[in-house]
Amino acid sequence: MNVADSHVFHGSGWQNPYRVAEYGKGIYLYDSEGKCYLDAIAGTHVVSIGHGVEEVADAVAAQLRKLSFVNKGQFTTAAQEELAEVVTALAPAGMDRVTFPTGGSIANEMALLIAQMYHKERGKPGKVKMISRWHSYHGRTLATAAMSGSAAIRQSIAPYDLGFPHIQAPHCYQCPFHLTFPGCQLACADDLARTLEQEGPDSIAAFIAEPIVGGSGSGITPPPGYYERIREICDEYDILFISEEVITGFGRTGKNFGIDHWNTIPDIITSTKALSSGYAPIGAIIVHGRIWDTFVNGKRKMVPAFTTYSGHPASCAAALAVQKYIARHQLIDRSARMGSYLMTQLCKLAEREPLIGDVRGKGLMIGVEFVQDRATHKPFPRKHQLIETIVKTGLENGLILRGRPGTGVGIDGDHTLLSPPFVISEEQCDELVQRFESTLTQVKQRLKLSV
Ligand SMILES: Cc1ncc(COP(=O)(O)O)c(C=O)c1O
Repeated sequence: MNVADSHVFHGSGWQNPYRVAEYGKGIYLYDSEGKCYLDAIAGTHVVSIGHGVEEVADAVAAQLRKLSFVNKGQFTTAAQEELAEVVTALAPAGMDRVTFPTGGSIANEMALLIAQMYHKERGKPGKVKMISRWHSYHGRTLATAAMSGSAAIRQSIAPYDLGFPHIQAPHCYQCPFHLTFPGCQLACADDLARTLEQEGPDSIAAFIAEPIVGGSGSGITPPPGYYERIREICDEYDILFISEEVITGFGRTGKNFGIDHWNTIPDIITSTKALSSGYAPIGAIIVHGRIWDTFVNGKRKMVPAFTTYSGHPASCAAALAVQKYIARHQLIDRSARMGSYLMTQLCKLAEREPLIGDVRGKGLMIGVEFVQDRATHKPFPRKHQLIETIVKTGLENGLILRGRPGTGVGIDGDHTLLSPPFVISEEQCDELVQRFESTLTQVKQRLKLSV
């Protein structure tokens, strides 16, 4: 459908007609003209159990027949209570309280509010700012846009500035310090201590980071010891550590949470996508018991940590059915196994495809970075519109991809994050890699790239 014929305020993609999505099954989507697409990005890194699982639809319908909405200040629901038990059982030790926001931006915004109120209850009302990292994305609200550190997004949209500082990302392939692990001695983690000293720790509430970077850094994975060092610094300066697991949570990386790959327990986890697999909008803000205790024993006796549709009964029912499905079919183990198979196949592809500079990530969250020169890691300049052409050509080839510019210090460079549903099989991973390879071959011809 052409954007000109629609009344929807579509936010992007105005140049091309929108395809009308009709139905999905497993890792495939079908449009209204019957064309089949392999969904290599699970919607937007959302769909964990695959498209079209009927038992989830049944659970939502049953909930809505019984109860559709209730005032959260006075009532809870069985679905919300059971989901809270399931989620806190998956969370790291001691993280035993959870509230259910409607999405990722609001989860991160609420996490900031919780951190600010935590410090206020402890007599430190000046600790209000968030430190985050370059090469990050935390959402579209003003505060989360100010946290986000994607240079390409920041430069193309608006001058968000709430005075939130950013530290360098643990981006080993394009190390901002031009160092190599382990000789670097985790200079990127120590950048947090340096920034805290410069800013003054009395103004900082928390540090937020995606344990493995999502769409704005496609799978950037810090080296061993990184989050352990981050935890030490947060404790030393009395700031909270928020593990931003909007994508990495609930099995995407082959463990319950992305932070589980390190020996670190955060103060707050925010997570959304794989929780309900996209069957309904819901996220989780999981909070350590000691923060909860501070509020319960504090003066205000309340935390305004929800909005109208938080903990919506239909969304809780959907998430509960999805989490039961994941547990019954052992899909987190499968995400680890299929992730390691897909990673091996993509590394083999990288050996024969010079456009690919780096393949990285964990589980079914695998980033591919494209370069002009594999020896120097030099990115393509923006004028080539490489990632846009890859995504467009992929769609023509029945392969749904997503990617962003900006790999080094500026907006040059291109990368994509592959994140198929956890139910993908080895044969389907092969099919994904084949379609990806032929897409890259066509793009090189189209853009007349000589690499
Ligand atoms: C890592 C990360 N954080 C936050 C968000 C924002 O979530 P939402 O779009 O649900 O507000 C996203 C969305 O893609 C994301 O990928």
